[in-house]
Amino acid sequence: TGRFTFDPGFTSTASCESKITYIDGDAGILLYRGYPIDQLAEKSSFLEVAHLLLNGNLPNAAENDEFTKNITRHTMIHEQLAQFYRGFRRDAHPMAIMCGIVGAMAAFYHDSTDIHDPKQRMIASHRLIAKMPTLAAMAYKYSIGQPFLYPDNSLSFAGNFLRMTFGVPAEPYIIDPVVEDAMEKLLILQADHEQNASTSTVRLAGSSGANPFACISAGIACLWGPAHGGANEAALNMLREIGTPDRIPEFIARAKNKDDPFRLMGFGHRVYKNYDPRAKVMATVAKNVLDKLNIKDPIFDVARELERIALSDPYFIDKKLYPNVDFYSGVVMSAIGFPTSMFTVLFAISRTVGWIAQWTEMMEDPEQKIGRPRQLYTGPTQRDFVPLSNRP
Ligand code: CMC
Repeated sequence: TGRFTFDPGFTSTASCESKITYIDGDAGILLYRGYPIDQLAEKSSFLEVAHLLLNGNLPNAAENDEFTKNITRHTMIHEQLAQFYRGFRRDAHPMAIMCGIVGAMAAFYHDSTDIHDPKQRMIASHRLIAKMPTLAAMAYKYSIGQPFLYPDNSLSFAGNFLRMTFGVPAEPYIIDPVVEDAMEKLLILQADHEQNASTSTVRLAGSSGANPFACISAGIACLWGPAHGGANEAALNMLREIGTPDRIPEFIARAKNKDDPFRLMGFGHRVYKNYDPRAKVMATVAKNVLDKLNIKDPIFDVARELERIALSDPYFIDKKLYPNVDFYSGVVMSAIGFPTSMFTVLFAISRTVGWIAQWTEMMEDPEQKIGRPRQLYTGPTQRDFVPLSNRP
């Protein structure tokens, strides 16, 4: 084009410099601030990972205490914000509610919308991370007609979210440590993934100087799509539709048929041309949760068999299509008790940390410019206006 490069889907464009997340898609490596994702999932807590992504280092004991206090101080929401839920239909998709509610936070927290003040930016970050589980649990409670539960700051990040989602005021909620651990790992695995579609959306929205609540709301909207965060819901629906291992060849044949738009959901990735390291951890988590809860869900067998067959099929081998994180995460969330409509919401709770870390990094960059891609115009050439009465 002469003046600029034509790169639809930005497959070969680096939109920014970043020190947060490193991916080597060919080798199947994912590092947060240099630490391998499997080590973090195995040994760390979600709040430690949040500190790492936001501040660049794993917290020491004092920093961990302080960060935990800074987050838990913000877990409650303004009571007036709770009124918003009543305006939605009970059968509203929770992602629709989340887009609205998170955007509306800008109308409540005026002391953290000045994007030029680092302190306000930090408070906005803490607020968003802290309030997402509360808002998400409320979206779920609203859909099933149960009362909202206030957060309990004595619990872990995952434990508090599980209680607000599945607990009721009438009786104590007993947290199963295996479920709590699975939830924590799920949150860690999805916390950041460099310049994916929703993160790029957050950066693009933020590049104009929009406030962080509006930017995260834009990220949630982008995450909702089935090619991105909605893939876990789509993957689980697909596994249920397949139902039994003997039907797998039929679906593999459909995925390979160019005239059929069907794709194996939870398979393939723009960046990973190898096994997604998050999927490996997720497969183990799925097995642990199903074993511990004694759930005999045939979809786990379908998933494992589908993976085995696909990974020995020349179509998937040649195109380097491997299971991605969404392939097993749906199995885990479903076993824990979440309806499929909540899957992407869980992803949003986790990814909020990555979004806000990336937004902060961008805001701290003195060279930061408004994001403004160009286009290849393919419309009509210049022509003269024709009055309505003269148009054929
Ligand atoms: N099943 C069957 N064929 C596939 C699949 C699949 N899941 N994924 C890609 N292909 C084929 C595709 O038809 C194309 O074939 P050809 O070169 O003959 O036209 C080739 O592989 C390359 O596909 P692409 O669509 O050009 O690759 P992309 O990098 O644009 O797409 C993707 C990546 C993730 C959107 C795609 O693999 C896909 O649609 N997967 C299913 C949805 C999914 O699991 N999404 C979750 C992504 S990971 C979570 C996240 O980051 O949010």
